[in-house]
Amino acid sequence: MNILLLGSGGREHAMACKIAESDRCSRLFVAPGNAGTASLAKTKNVDLDPMDFTGIHAFVLSNDIGMVVVGPEAPLVGGIADYFASESSLRGVMVIGPSKRGATLEGSKDEAKAFMMRHQIPTAAYRTFTLENLHEGKEFLRTLQPPYVLKADGLAGGKGVLILDNIKDAEKELQNMLKGKFGEASSKVVIEQFLQGVELSVFVLTDGKHYQILPTAKDYKRIGEGDTGLNTGGMGSISPVHFADRSFMQKVEERIVIPTVKGLHAENVNYKGFIFIGLMAVAGEGGELDPYVIEYNVRMGDPETESVFPRIKSDVVDLFEHVWHGNLQQTTVDIDPRAATCVMLVAEGYPGRYEKGKVISGLKQVEGSMIFHAGTRLDEHGEVVTNGGRVVCVTSLAESMPSALLHTYQELEKIKWEGLYFRHDIGQDLLKMMI
Ligand code: AMP
Ligand code: GLY
Repeated sequence: MNILLLGSGGREHAMACKIAESDRCSRLFVAPGNAGTASLAKTKNVDLDPMDFTGIHAFVLSNDIGMVVVGPEAPLVGGIADYFASESSLRGVMVIGPSKRGATLEGSKDEAKAFMMRHQIPTAAYRTFTLENLHEGKEFLRTLQPPYVLKADGLAGGKGVLILDNIKDAEKELQNMLKGKFGEASSKVVIEQFLQGVELSVFVLTDGKHYQILPTAKDYKRIGEGDTGLNTGGMGSISPVHFADRSFMQKVEERIVIPTVKGLHAENVNYKGFIFIGLMAVAGEGGELDPYVIEYNVRMGDPETESVFPRIKSDVVDLFEHVWHGNLQQTTVDIDPRAATCVMLVAEGYPGRYEKGKVISGLKQVEGSMIFHAGTRLDEHGEVVTNGGRVVCVTSLAESMPSALLHTYQELEKIKWEGLYFRHDIGQDLLKMMI
């Protein structure tokens, strides 16, 4: 079968590696892909925008594509799965990604919170406000304890959450958001209770009725060491997260995964794809950790995929076929017990302004680790050059997290370009917790 994967980041490179590895895959096309996907066996980049549904339609028909795997959220929120379902010439093409209604779990924080309320899924207490009831919003803020959590309802490129320590700033930002700080995305704002705890992500693959839980991961969102500075797309990831032990994961499954999948099914939401559940592990009475949902995403995480996918030993195309046919319960996901550590190498200046087009050297010298390309392209001389803020990441697998980290940091030193930056402290917080 020919497969089309939409997206161009490290997530898509990591997914492409697994898809291309499958015997079920004859040819893999990545739209638009990057220099990493360009050099994979069986794989070809195509110059198509993941939001250009009619362009994708034509490509799928002319290249005999049997399966489309959607990497990023935008085409899902834009309704690509519904588009495929509504076009008779595309019926039968498997689409791995939820319908537009399913994608509101990520596309609208307010909808996601309402869904959690309807299905008694543990999450922070909240209320939603618009410009019309700004005054009530400010009153609600005064009933809360700092810090104050303000979230733009819609997609805001990962920047739509503000956490403020003082009430005056919170009131001002609430007003700014409702008056268009994040455009249409913040015309509604969710104000929620601050949860104190440790974050982790749980990934689920579902056919809309059955599910399989994939490995857990933790990502590192801030640009600076010690989790300081601006938020980024993610500076590294670790899988598994050691404190998500059997008893914690049992709570996650019972309190969150089952009611989420059941809730989608009960509400007749067509959902065939990934659910990325951002969790806060909060210490309850007696010190036991309890999971609360911070957010849902309707896709895999980036750079979590770069540590989660290398640990999946099962044939992912076979898993996706089970997803499409609604019989995911008939299979199992075979997971590599080893730890995976991923460190992202970024361009100087990121997540602010940065330069592109720097020649990258040393990629071929890396041994025993995987390199996933994020923002790269091949220039006219066939050299790999930087083409984004997050450029490449290095993932290692080892028996223990410390040795995987050691290997990643040793190997990434071989990669060079002018203005390369990375965090030296990925995983250090988890290592401290483990001692
Ligand atoms: P989100 O986009 O919803 O994942 O939020 C971005 C980040 O804000 C999360 O990764 C958390 O670090 C933080 N955050 C969001 N909601 C809360 C909350 N209720 N309590 C504490 N931190 C939060
Ligand atoms: N790493 C966070 C995300 O993919 O949203």
